[in-house]
Amino acid sequence: MSSEELKRAAAQGEATPKGIDTSTASVARVYDALLGGKDNYEVDRVVYRSVLESSPEAPRTAQAIRQWLVRVVRWLAGPAGMDQFLDLGSGLPTVENTHEVAQRVNPEARVVYIDNDPIVGAHGRALLEENDYTHFAEADLTRPSELLQHPVVTQHLDLERPYVLMQCNTLHHLMDEENPYEIMRSYLDALPSGSYAALCHFWDPAEEDAELSEFAKDMEARLTESSMGSGRFRTRKQIESYLEGLELVEPGLVMLHEWWPEGPRLSPLTNMDQVFLSGVGRKP
Ligand SMILES: C[S@@+](CC[C@H](N)C(=O)[O-])C[C@H]1O[C@@H](n2cnc3c(N)ncnc32)[C@H](O)[C@@H]1O
Repeated sequence: MSSEELKRAAAQGEATPKGIDTSTASVARVYDALLGGKDNYEVDRVVYRSVLESSPEAPRTAQAIRQWLVRVVRWLAGPAGMDQFLDLGSGLPTVENTHEVAQRVNPEARVVYIDNDPIVGAHGRALLEENDYTHFAEADLTRPSELLQHPVVTQHLDLERPYVLMQCNTLHHLMDEENPYEIMRSYLDALPSGSYAALCHFWDPAEEDAELSEFAKDMEARLTESSMGSGRFRTRKQIESYLEGLELVEPGLVMLHEWWPEGPRLSPLTNMDQVFLSGVGRKP
């Protein structure tokens, strides 16, 4: 962030809940800005505006991600019969949170949300803990064994029975050195047979589309070189490896709009719409 921008943020004198760092952008708050939320600060909006410079339609893609999540959770809570969800990196509450979608299908479906951003804890806990079947814990998803022993998780989910592991738009915020493959492996190894994992991840289609790959690389630079400091666009092979050993639910690992779309498109696809891969796998 430039000194001009820093001055502007300070001049705006935004009230900051205790413990919330507004000197650097946070993933949860930038995503909130993209979804049209209010829980973000000037430092986050600097990143948001940089994203818009390259992709003015990015807020629509953020909504497409939510619509994908709704289709996935509705199917898992319905025909797939899943009644437990562990939603890692839940983000700030928005329209159609996991528990609202799952509990519309099965009012007793249990959802535990995890996020490590204090703003999600501060603003999100009350909303995301709407009823006895919905809970939130502030924890770090890069520590699978600790997380799976977290009292909020073990008290509200029976990890011996099949559950859904939601890893949506989280692993691309881990740098390669953090070893997202090994982290995901630990979660998959711990899943009981009959469980599902849902994944959505930034994609660099380097082998399939040179122009889109250029776009992905530019977006990655905008995100990783910003004060937010993360956002890796990975190859299809790398993203596939995060669901290794699972049986992919039809139609497999595909772009968001290809995963059981709900009718004809209402607007043309943008570049941003086409740099995510998403899928659901079942543990045999
Ligand atoms: C882009 S948002 C995705 C929100 C939601 N899962 C979705 O797909 O709509 C990523 C979220 O992951 C959280 N996150 C990032 N790294 C994390 C970590 N190490 N532990 C827990 N949460 C993390 C961020 O705080 C943010 O809220």
